[in-house]
Amino acid sequence: MSESEAAQRIQELSEKLRFYNQKYYQEHTSLVSDQEFDALLKELSDLEEKYPQFQEADSPSLRVGGTITKEFPTVRHQYPMLSLGNTYSQEELRDFDQRVRKLLAAEGWEDPAIHYVCELKFDGVSLSLIYENGKLLRAVTRGDGVQGDEITANAQTIRSIPLKIQAEGLPSTFEVRGEVFMPLPVFKALNESRAQEGKETYANPRNTTSGTLKLQDSREVAQRKLDAFLYFLLGENLPFAQHSEAIQALESWGFQVSPTYRVCQGIEEVLHYVEEWNEKRKDLPVETDGVVIKVDRYDFQEVLGSTAKSPRWAIAFKYATEQARTILKEVVYQVGRTGAVTPVAQLEPVFLAGTTVKRASLHNANEIERLDLRLGDQVLVEKGGEIIPKIVGVDTQYRSLKTKPLEYPQYCPECNTLLIRHEGEAVHYCPNVKGCPPQVKGRIEHFIQRKAMDINSLGEGIIKQLFEQKLLQDPADLYQLQYEQLIGLERFASKSAQNLLDGIEASKKIPYARVLFALGIRFVGATVAAKLAEAFPKIEQLQAASYEQLLEVEDIGERIAQSVLDFFADPDNLVLLQRLQEAGLQFEGEQSSLPDGPSPLAGKSFLISGVFQEYSRESLKETIVQHGGKVLSSISKKLDYLVAGDKMGPSKREKAEKLDIPILTEQEFNNLLASE
Ligand code: IVH
Repeated sequence: MSESEAAQRIQELSEKLRFYNQKYYQEHTSLVSDQEFDALLKELSDLEEKYPQFQEADSPSLRVGGTITKEFPTVRHQYPMLSLGNTYSQEELRDFDQRVRKLLAAEGWEDPAIHYVCELKFDGVSLSLIYENGKLLRAVTRGDGVQGDEITANAQTIRSIPLKIQAEGLPSTFEVRGEVFMPLPVFKALNESRAQEGKETYANPRNTTSGTLKLQDSREVAQRKLDAFLYFLLGENLPFAQHSEAIQALESWGFQVSPTYRVCQGIEEVLHYVEEWNEKRKDLPVETDGVVIKVDRYDFQEVLGSTAKSPRWAIAFKYATEQARTILKEVVYQVGRTGAVTPVAQLEPVFLAGTTVKRASLHNANEIERLDLRLGDQVLVEKGGEIIPKIVGVDTQYRSLKTKPLEYPQYCPECNTLLIRHEGEAVHYCPNVKGCPPQVKGRIEHFIQRKAMDINSLGEGIIKQLFEQKLLQDPADLYQLQYEQLIGLERFASKSAQNLLDGIEASKKIPYARVLFALGIRFVGATVAAKLAEAFPKIEQLQAASYEQLLEVEDIGERIAQSVLDFFADPDNLVLLQRLQEAGLQFEGEQSSLPDGPSPLAGKSFLISGVFQEYSRESLKETIVQHGGKVLSSISKKLDYLVAGDKMGPSKREKAEKLDIPILTEQEFNNLLASE
């Protein structure tokens, strides 16, 4: 490949991936499979490594990381990162408004209308972003407020932080501040997978975010899927008169701004906002602990100034963390699909932050020990991050002298097998993989879930019934189920029995990668399964793969490789596989959905104009991009085709004709497409 070819390919790949990304993150549509996306991305990263001079400032490869930073340099903030004064009541908020008015009055502003900008206070990690000529130059943590750590490579993996901005009137240098956070569903999934792997779970999203931003390998950071809300613009001679304008500008430049911000006209409206969001915030996918209230007008802000620690023009209202006191009645031990045992506290029901709490997670034996929990204890529960309530402390004052520390069970509460605890791991396991009911049922639940075989007419309750009737002991039994057997069961009408059988039949078409995931091989999640399926397009090849061959696959480490070997070494699993194969499941990769040969559209550029019969403009663009073409927005000599629909402006046609650019009708475009 020549240098100029490389430059062109890098540009092409970058555009394509950005387009797919945008579709995915803003419109939630996937135009390509994960594998295709990853393959394109890999091609791009490889080329960029060879020809770093052509890497674009906002290259999609930056989003997946790959930079290792051994030590983060310390950087001084141009403007110190102040903190905010806290308030906890309506009274204190009114006092704040009074203070603001008094200070303004002293400067000659008698009783002005004061607009406050309110938005939620996100419980994350604040970050400062420096942009120069539209490019993200540096990202720095708050540190002590005066200086912080430069973590640019890690911040680049956060998709809500623009890497390059093209906008009219963009200041040549500016700073944007905001809060980086881990969305609650991401946090939950991360903890679940850690629990499965026997690792300690993380305490809360904020600490996890903070730890993630300091990881040395930005590839790992990318996988943690952090997000950010930006809420503050700083710079010299900015063309705005008030904060709310700056926020709007930030949004128009492509920064993610919190949809919760609102301009309130006066303190009463602020109080209303605070009240309104106390409940609503619990539905947000991010932890919040209050409301930040800022005086909107910049000239007012200037008059008000700052103390050494915090600005006088802003304040934080903190919602009280709701706590309740109740009694620990019992601790039960739940066994999951992987055999991991989780202790769950059973509480005297107590009302907390809108719901009645009866249970709290205790994570593992270490947590019980740390809290020194005993049955009958008075415990304090909190809704940690509004997810699952947790026990934050014990009031030993009320403890009876007779209580003894809780003893962790030695035997599985479900099947009585001696539990094991691997060295260095916090979690206990039941090793009776084949016979322990929750493990057996759990494997079937895993098998049928949407991301796997997607047999949605089968729920937990039905699995339980079928399991107890001995009709279902492993996933392969599903494919032997008969209508007559089902119809005899409780709650099974003819329609639901037929639905179930239809769902099972349809699952035979689920692609190989998902079948591989459905098997529930330990540590093989959906992404790993897709990688394995790509590297070993037939199950026989995967089965025959050696430890070394497995390790060669991207993202497959020793732990996963060993787990795959263990899976195939177990004769019971081989029987299961054979039965599933006989049932007709897919155990071979299918062809990629992209055409094999080079498409006649590949590398060609198109301009779309007018309206079309068969396509929306959007779908026409997608079709072009999917087939390797490019969509341009104006006519130039570089353009290969103008695709003209109805109602195209005459000047476009003229211009195209002048430059000798072929004009295609919709039909001609389709012919071109079909000519591959
Ligand atoms: S504005 C002058 N808005 O809270 C400070 N801060 O206690 C202007 N925070 O360090 C900050 N959500 O890390 C602002 N919507 C929001 C925020 C927010 C969270 C954090 C921020 C700041 C701390 C102040």
